[in-house]
Amino acid sequence: MHIKTLSTNIGAEIFNADIRDKTQFDAIWEAFIEYSVLVIRNQAITPEEHLEFSRQFGQINVNRFFQPLENHPEISVVEKLANQRRAIGQDWHTDQSYDAAPAMGSIMHAIALPPYGGDTLFVSMASAFEALNDEKQLFLKGLSAIHSSKHVFGKQKQSKYRDDSGRTGNEELAIQDALHPVVITHPLSGRDGLYVNPTFTESVTGVSSKESKTILGALYRHCQSPNFQCRIKWKTGDVGVWDNRATWHKAENNYHGYYRLMHRITIEGCTLSGSKSLTQVA
Ligand code: SIN
Repeated sequence: MHIKTLSTNIGAEIFNADIRDKTQFDAIWEAFIEYSVLVIRNQAITPEEHLEFSRQFGQINVNRFFQPLENHPEISVVEKLANQRRAIGQDWHTDQSYDAAPAMGSIMHAIALPPYGGDTLFVSMASAFEALNDEKQLFLKGLSAIHSSKHVFGKQKQSKYRDDSGRTGNEELAIQDALHPVVITHPLSGRDGLYVNPTFTESVTGVSSKESKTILGALYRHCQSPNFQCRIKWKTGDVGVWDNRATWHKAENNYHGYYRLMHRITIEGCTLSGSKSLTQVA
């Protein structure tokens, strides 16, 4: 196995690995903690082998909103047809940050790719935090923010998330709201990192709505600096692994007229220190 860094702050490519070989898992796990994003090239695997590999990271989370792969409820289909305009995950986000114990990671197998475009971009939230001065870091460490699934997947979703393609569903299950610290200490690496994202974070608590918008807007602009980013340029068969507590990601939607299909598995996470569920079950 050969590991090659993808950028200064985040991401690595792994060559000559076989994710079916369990003796290779320790090295992949160590790389996962160090780089937060991995692309393991050229894996000829079945959905069962994808699941088997993923189970070594932790318990699998069955996604509430995405279409499952036939006969495989634990695998979500992330698909864009040639005639569709919107791509799933095209805006910066952190998977399932609306849960009180948000997803630990996601493991995605590239099945069919367009002839160009369709890369996935990632941001290192620890590097983004470390680049802020001490005063800003201290200020942010005292804040918490509300995250929600309702405006993205629920019945009252915002117009920009509306999509009648049937690729997402179960609107009635979008009841999750969670409060997370704006800065979390990563449960595996011990690094402090920002934990707010433009898709699921609604507002910072304890400040006015105007102040919340100013704080989040400034953080989002800061995090989008290319200095903190890496890019996966997919090839068919690649397996991407990313840590949702350490990253943002987005799918580049720049291949209209072509087909893209990914199979995604999500791994359960733990409650982050200072987080709590705000979900009111009617
Ligand atoms: C996702 O947001 O989970 C999907 C990312 C991608 O399709 O590149």
